[in-house]
Amino acid sequence: MLNIVLFGPPGSGKGTQAEKLIDKYKLTHVATGDILRDEVDRQTDLGKQAKVIMDAGELVPDNIVIDMIRKKLEEHKGGPGFIFDGFPRTVDQARELRKALSKYDENVSIVISLEVPKEVLMERMLKRGKETGRSDDNEETINNRIDVYERQTVPVTYYYDKKHVHVSVDGVGTIEEIFKRIVKKIEEFETYH
Ligand code: AP5
Ligand code: MG
Repeated sequence: MLNIVLFGPPGSGKGTQAEKLIDKYKLTHVATGDILRDEVDRQTDLGKQAKVIMDAGELVPDNIVIDMIRKKLEEHKGGPGFIFDGFPRTVDQARELRKALSKYDENVSIVISLEVPKEVLMERMLKRGKETGRSDDNEETINNRIDVYERQTVPVTYYYDKKHVHVSVDGVGTIEEIFKRIVKKIEEFETYH
């Protein structure tokens, strides 16, 4: 299996690039933010709980997202692989992902970080907020999402650095340019592993 973690700050293009990677590699998309927004839309108990946290730009508790991941892995085991988008976001989530994948004799193949400066992130998300009304795309929440990313999520990159599976890609440019950079990294990785 090819198991990709698409990593990066809010607004860095994880969802956009995940779609293109899925087309190319036929992977199963596991986007915890999308799953949570679906729960919010359906007004489930989990959705009601999650909405408050998401609108504040904080992280939903680890055990909730890990349960969602375990379910996805069981549903799609034995397929071509997974693309994790917006997960793991804490070192504990990364450890739990490792445990969950090891049950299927699998592991994370590559972690690709999209690098985008804060001003560009802010600009992209404010634009989307205006166009779509996504409720966490306002200046105050965006600032907190970026802070939370720096404090709680960046340590995940050190975890994967130690495992020698972490690479970075310049996330500024056209969607197509960035996609080419990502594919190049995946191909290099497949050659050497
Ligand atoms: P989540 O949905 O994961 O949001 P996020 O990480 O904040 O990131 P976004 O989805 O906003 O950005 P993206 O990197 O996917 O970029 P996109 O392609 O959309 O999480 C939301 C919330 O859910 C969290 O705050 C948390 O509360 C909770 N949550 C989720 N996962 C969790 C977890 N594991 N643990 C705990 N809590 C969790 O692009 C952004 C915009 O830019 C789009 O409008 C796009 O069209 C545009 N764009 C993309 N690429 C380009 C480009 N090259 N040039 C110009 N514009 C571009
Ligand atoms: Mg996204």
